[in-house]
Amino acid sequence: MDNQSLSTEIEELKRQKRAVVLAHNYQLPEIQDIADYVGDSLGLSQIAAKTDAELIVFCGVNFMAETASIISPDKKVIIPDDQAGCSLAESITVEQLKEWKNAHPGAVVVTYVNSTAEVKAETDYCCTSSNAVKVIQAIPEEKEILFAPDMYLGAYVQVVTGRKLTLWNGCCHIHEKIGEVEISDIRAKHPDAEVVIHPECGCSTTCMLDSTQNPDCNYKIFSTEGMLNYVTESPAKEFLIATEVGILHRMKQNNPGKDFYPVYKEAVCEYMKLVSLEKLRNAIRDEQVEVKVPVALAERARIPIERMLSIV
Ligand code: 13P
Repeated sequence: MDNQSLSTEIEELKRQKRAVVLAHNYQLPEIQDIADYVGDSLGLSQIAAKTDAELIVFCGVNFMAETASIISPDKKVIIPDDQAGCSLAESITVEQLKEWKNAHPGAVVVTYVNSTAEVKAETDYCCTSSNAVKVIQAIPEEKEILFAPDMYLGAYVQVVTGRKLTLWNGCCHIHEKIGEVEISDIRAKHPDAEVVIHPECGCSTTCMLDSTQNPDCNYKIFSTEGMLNYVTESPAKEFLIATEVGILHRMKQNNPGKDFYPVYKEAVCEYMKLVSLEKLRNAIRDEQVEVKVPVALAERARIPIERMLSIV
């Protein structure tokens, strides 16, 4: 079946089942185009929290659908491919977190939303890339903060807030690779381009420090939705984009007169790309695969998410 017929069938199924389709900015273009909302982790969590749809279809990776299920326990949440994992979420287990907490009694635990429900349940505050700075600023100065699992986001937040954080040594396998790219070589080819970077990138902290010493560097660091908003608002005509390449679809669509170049073309998350139109159609039709977090676990994991949502 071609994409047009699949899209027509999906639209019809969405109406019949009163379903809302949420898609992360890294999803395939055809999935972004058929979604009701496309956004970053925070924006999609907020929509999941307030939607009155009966079925939430999450086109993203497992932790995102899990978060939606934790926030909306009365809704049915489904993911079109339950093999869509996240290397960052897997970089800390609940046993490792418990051991880390035991070694730092009294510390406040801040966990990136890219984490499992079990890890969230052992956490004081969740954060996303768009609100990590505000979450850290909301914690009393004298408290030690354990920040997990992304060391690059943590290092970036340290620079912005001036707070010393105790960092877990985890990262996203795609964003880490972007850190190995020599951004100055690409800038030499596009001297007028602005460089827009996701804070999970291996280069985000050094780029940020470079910017403080040399304002000409002028790097911009945002969550995926922040990156999208920035390129729309900026008067610049050319941009170098440092994150997963799925984000280029909406950047180009929303800004036809501007040019976008990925800093690293191979920055393709194989898990985000598992969702196809066919799998999305099957998922809504069969209401599968359901993502359901056990009630007792969901109650504990909801606390740090709600704390985060009340700060932003
Ligand atoms: P945001 O979309 O919240 O910036 O996060 C991206 C992400 O999850 C990358 O791993």
